[in-house]
Amino acid sequence: MKRFLALLALAASFNVHAQKFDGLAASPQMGWNSWNTFACNINEQLIRDTADSMVKLGLKDAGYEYVNIDDCWHGKRDKDGVIHPDAERFPSGMKALADYVHSKGLKLGIYSDVGATTCGGRPGSRGHEYQDAITYASWGIDYVKYDWCDSKGLNAVGAYTTMRDAIRSAGRPMLFSMCEWGDNKPWEWATDVGHSWRTTGDIYPCWDCEFSHGSWSSLGVLRILDKQAGLRKFAGPGHWNDMDMLEVGMGMTEDEDRAHFAIWAMMASPLILGNDLRSMPESTRRILSNKDVIAINQDKAGIQAWKFMDAGQLEYWAKPLANNEWAVMVLNRGEQAANVNYDWKAHQLSDDLSKREADFKQMVYDWRDIWGGKSGDTGKKLEAKVAPHSALLLRLKPQAVDGAACGTTPAPRKLSYPWMSREQWQQMFEEDVAVAEKGGVDLLFVGDSITQGWNREVWDRSFGGWRTANFGIGGDHTGNVLWRLQNGHAEKLHPKLVVLTVGVNNLGFCNATPKQAFDGVKAVVAQLRKLYPDGRILLNAVLPFGQFSNSPTRLQVVELNRLVATLGDGKQVIFHDYCSSFLQPNGEMSPEVMGDFLHPTAKGYQIWADAMLSDIRKLME
Ligand code: GLA
Repeated sequence: MKRFLALLALAASFNVHAQKFDGLAASPQMGWNSWNTFACNINEQLIRDTADSMVKLGLKDAGYEYVNIDDCWHGKRDKDGVIHPDAERFPSGMKALADYVHSKGLKLGIYSDVGATTCGGRPGSRGHEYQDAITYASWGIDYVKYDWCDSKGLNAVGAYTTMRDAIRSAGRPMLFSMCEWGDNKPWEWATDVGHSWRTTGDIYPCWDCEFSHGSWSSLGVLRILDKQAGLRKFAGPGHWNDMDMLEVGMGMTEDEDRAHFAIWAMMASPLILGNDLRSMPESTRRILSNKDVIAINQDKAGIQAWKFMDAGQLEYWAKPLANNEWAVMVLNRGEQAANVNYDWKAHQLSDDLSKREADFKQMVYDWRDIWGGKSGDTGKKLEAKVAPHSALLLRLKPQAVDGAACGTTPAPRKLSYPWMSREQWQQMFEEDVAVAEKGGVDLLFVGDSITQGWNREVWDRSFGGWRTANFGIGGDHTGNVLWRLQNGHAEKLHPKLVVLTVGVNNLGFCNATPKQAFDGVKAVVAQLRKLYPDGRILLNAVLPFGQFSNSPTRLQVVELNRLVATLGDGKQVIFHDYCSSFLQPNGEMSPEVMGDFLHPTAKGYQIWADAMLSDIRKLME
């Protein structure tokens, strides 16, 4: 038994060591690093002053958190192998420096290397990994950048995993920033090793140059960008592609600086400043503390951008953001100004990786030009002039459908949609009023777009045997449905059965959470109960429902259905989830069935109608 317990303890301790600290880089880390400006010319005063500047200049408030000491802080190892800082440059010691930085509400980072010597020729961690991690932890270090110089003969996976385990066992959460330059494709193996990994060699403050150092060269902004092809699928919360530290404020033009910052934001790269914060011009400070750009980088969906179109010297990039928002960047790589004349409606943004889509024919987005301050919407073409070596950066937000009326507040439709105008809506509503006035309906369909049955033949064929009316109108959300039930003379109808399908537009258009959408459904059910106390309601699942079992839309719909099911009482309100009828054996919805997010295809409508038919028959008896 004892032996078993010992084994168990051993297994548990391995388990603890075999991971990195969680939650340290839920969004890409932000901070400053000494290397780009100061190289080996660093000391504790610089670090203190930089921390002060970070607070004073509003950079801390903008999200910058780590103050990172790069190479050359080292003194010697003592007779026990313990590393000490350079006593002349860091006379107060690292613990005191960490205490100071912490007192400012910031965190302290340090640098080491897999080899026996760092790139600057100082003592590296080889053979001292656990000892160094314990030393850093005892100083109160929060971040370890770990370089790849002097690594001949070392296995990268082993070397970085050893340091990760050393950090973990030292017990202090320290973000592990791997600086392996992409030599061994860390994106393929380092998800559980580092919180970020460099994807390239060192950056150089130029737009599109390569600067030779003899045996190696450093790269300008575009050169680094071009090396990110194919890497986005490896990045996400807790494990980022690191395009190296920023060169904003290091000699490029303002346009180039802005574009460089925008690119790093779009690519969800860590934002580590590399300029001298103590003497920064206001123009640079403004770029670096632009909250809108930072918000794109830090967005909690954590999805790296992809290039969706090349147009000569212009590149179009998109980054899906949380809450159905998007960032779009138009990058002008070239030497001439370029005109943008972009028809949103002619293109649909569709991301295979995140399964996110923006269909500009179905939905209008408001956009805001983050650097230029202009605004507009995707209903009209985007017309802009983009200066050479610059980037137009837009944030897109889906237009709230009838604003605050979405949900539980009864309201008529106020807006026109690209596919159905306000006037058409009014006309359909009046047709419904006429039907209600006439009465004599036994089976009533109520709800939003899907109910309308865009493939009307399917509807007529399937339900035409009864005295049927369909009060679904495209684009309506529960607030509109409530209004129609109150203002459309619906009380004149006495249907035996109401088939209610609502929720899709609340999720897709109104951007509601499943809980908010549920509140709308609940209000509609209450209204129907009031109108038709003797009738019954077949409460329907919302459709379609996301192509894959983990599609974000699928998860939303599943959650909404879980909530909506609680409204069923098996007698007067009968809930049925028809979603599973749409699935293939592997749990996916085939594109022939799914259509877009809001509507199934004709085949999908038929599957749905067939699935409902037997329930409807029973309930109509
Ligand atoms: C390498 C790294 C740089 C910097 C220097 C320090 O070149 O890639 O980011 O840390 O070493 O010597």
